[in-house]
Amino acid sequence: MTRRNILGMSLWLVSALGWFAAGAVRAQGSHAGAAQEERAAAATVPAQALAISPELRELLREEMRGISKGMEALVTAIATGDWKMVTDTSARIRASYIMEQRLTAAQKDELETELPEVFKLMDANFHREAGNLGHAAEVRDAELTSFYFYRMVESCVACHSAYATTRFPNLVTDAPPEAREH
Ligand code: HEC
Repeated sequence: MTRRNILGMSLWLVSALGWFAAGAVRAQGSHAGAAQEERAAAATVPAQALAISPELRELLREEMRGISKGMEALVTAIATGDWKMVTDTSARIRASYIMEQRLTAAQKDELETELPEVFKLMDANFHREAGNLGHAAEVRDAELTSFYFYRMVESCVACHSAYATTRFPNLVTDAPPEAREH
């Protein structure tokens, strides 16, 4: 096993542990605890750019721009109780996995091998929060819908801080993870 593999493995393990812990805390109904676990897991990832081809990067950026538009629409839709708009928009965001877009077989392979496991976990988590937001909107729970909106923004920041600091240098922080909590 090379050093890089070992590092990758341990990052994966740390994040997987954080993941299960977050799930366990969530099961107890403590959302704040789950968010904290997730931030802790994200903080273990050294900031890096994704090693993907220019074509895939452009697809990812396109998806990101779509997600941003959706988030803007969500603010007004939640604030005005436009629940249909909220559920439609969250369904669109949830369906926007880059894995599921119009990718060639070769690009799918590239994603599978080149995307770090932690990135995939963060991506899956983000999409799960979008699903949770949709469910909250279905039962017209404005407070819970707002809560999941916040969780989604938190997911944007976590992933960008780990994998998009070239694009968003303002998200680089030298402070230790404990200091970032405040
Ligand atoms: C799982 C990881 C991940 C999540 C979650 C994520 N992003 Fe991104 N996003 C990226 C990466 C990586 C880039 C940088 C791509 C590059 O190299 O230019 C990016 C770039 C962007 C860009 C720039 C697009 C462009 O045209 O260059 C925007 C805007 C953006 N993200 C918005 C969001 C918003 C808003 C959210 C949350 C609602 C979000 N992202 C969630 C990974 C993520």
